[in-house]
Amino acid sequence: MEQVNIPVTEPDRQYHFMNLLSEHVFDMTSKNGTSPTFNVTTFGCQMNAHDSEKLKGILTTAGFTEVSEEETPDLVILNTCTVRENANQKLYGHLGLLKSLKQKNPGMMIGLCGCMMQESHVIETIKSKYRHVDLVFGTHNIYKLAELLYRLLTEGGPVIEILDGTDTVVEALPQKRKYPFKGGVNIMYGCNNFCTYCIVPYVRGREKSRPKEEILAEVSSLAKDGAKEIMLLGQNVNSYAYDFPGLLSEVAAIEGVERVRFMTSHPKDLSDRLIDVIASEEKIARHIHLPVQSGSSAILKKMNRVYTKESYLDLVNRIRAKLPDISITTDIIVGFPGETETDFEETLDVCRKVRYDQAFTFIYSKRTGTPAAVFPDQVPPEVIKDRFDRLLATVNQIATERTARFAGSTRSVLVEDINRQDAGYLTGRTSENLTVHFPGDPSLIGQIVDVKLTEPKGFYYMGEL
Ligand code: 5AD
Ligand code: SF4
Repeated sequence: MEQVNIPVTEPDRQYHFMNLLSEHVFDMTSKNGTSPTFNVTTFGCQMNAHDSEKLKGILTTAGFTEVSEEETPDLVILNTCTVRENANQKLYGHLGLLKSLKQKNPGMMIGLCGCMMQESHVIETIKSKYRHVDLVFGTHNIYKLAELLYRLLTEGGPVIEILDGTDTVVEALPQKRKYPFKGGVNIMYGCNNFCTYCIVPYVRGREKSRPKEEILAEVSSLAKDGAKEIMLLGQNVNSYAYDFPGLLSEVAAIEGVERVRFMTSHPKDLSDRLIDVIASEEKIARHIHLPVQSGSSAILKKMNRVYTKESYLDLVNRIRAKLPDISITTDIIVGFPGETETDFEETLDVCRKVRYDQAFTFIYSKRTGTPAAVFPDQVPPEVIKDRFDRLLATVNQIATERTARFAGSTRSVLVEDINRQDAGYLTGRTSENLTVHFPGDPSLIGQIVDVKLTEPKGFYYMGEL
């Protein structure tokens, strides 16, 4: 690798490598007649989705063109998740498919990144069994894609770089947003909560909050660039170190910002002040994702969630007292070690009391290295299956009833896309995060329009302008 004049400070260093890459891309383009292509596939949460926008930004800046995976891209990147075990199996399956694709196109490069790469046993498996992988990096050096890819192209591979942690968080790199009118902004990285089932603190590291000024500057620049809806992202936004409610109102006050969302809230840290700030600012979306995980105080204790059934229900009541129409959604784990039928009924009871607009239900997945993996009384699969089915029936019925509460009302909808089933229709979202399909002209995409919600369809609506 060329050793002269490589900047040591970031993000200059990465821009330097994007430059070098683009020279490389120029050569490839003149040789082949078309520019090299890439595809990034994302698994997992909103944080990963946002990381993928950064990866796409870097590649686009370097001159690569985005295509679908079926178009056999020159570079395929899988941004992985490891929150549940089946995500790992899915990845290995995907890598098998890519192997046969690569046999037909030997020039194809395969890259892996994201949470799963922070686990040493995964790296060992990839090194020994998946030798067709060319590039591997983790959650702490995602910003280095240009540099690592340049190394792969000039020195050959595989290039594998995994860091155990980092103090450097590099921002101010390009991003390629899926929708120009929506932008995600990281406000913090990592998690300090160590819920006993969860692998996130091990693969994403300790909490690091970004300075407020930096976040506000990024939001302003997104807004100038046409973003109307801003999503503030963090594993636990309520423990943002420099006053989350304050940040939220300052973000909402930025010119051009019309809607602000945030994800995810840990119930233990959601303050009354936050509820007041939401209530006082209409631009803040009427939606809180408030993972409960279990309704049993005994299980919550074993999960290290630091709240009880009663304190959670009390929080929900305080939210609803000030925001009667707000949507509340949740995550629930079924079959945590030691969960008895009585514990599970407490979970059903919380669902009936809170009446969630939507609940994401998960079967407990044992993650090696987390405390719960070695807890006694792991619940047998058939018991979990039975509870899971009952839970799903309960939450689906409640969600359908909740959705119906808006029938006949008119709401502001951010128009996102042409409907995938019917091109004469558009698809958008209300402030409550409810999906609405309605007839309309594609020129409305990216605008906030008033839509009458005519027909509830379970989890979504049909409507008219
Ligand atoms: N098993 C099942 N679900 C899990 N989640 C996190 N870890 C696990 C696990 N080991 C769920 C939690 C979290 C969501 C993102 O994933 O409900 O809120
Ligand atoms: Fe995992 Fe708990 Fe942190 Fe959420 S708060 S990322 S569930 S450890």
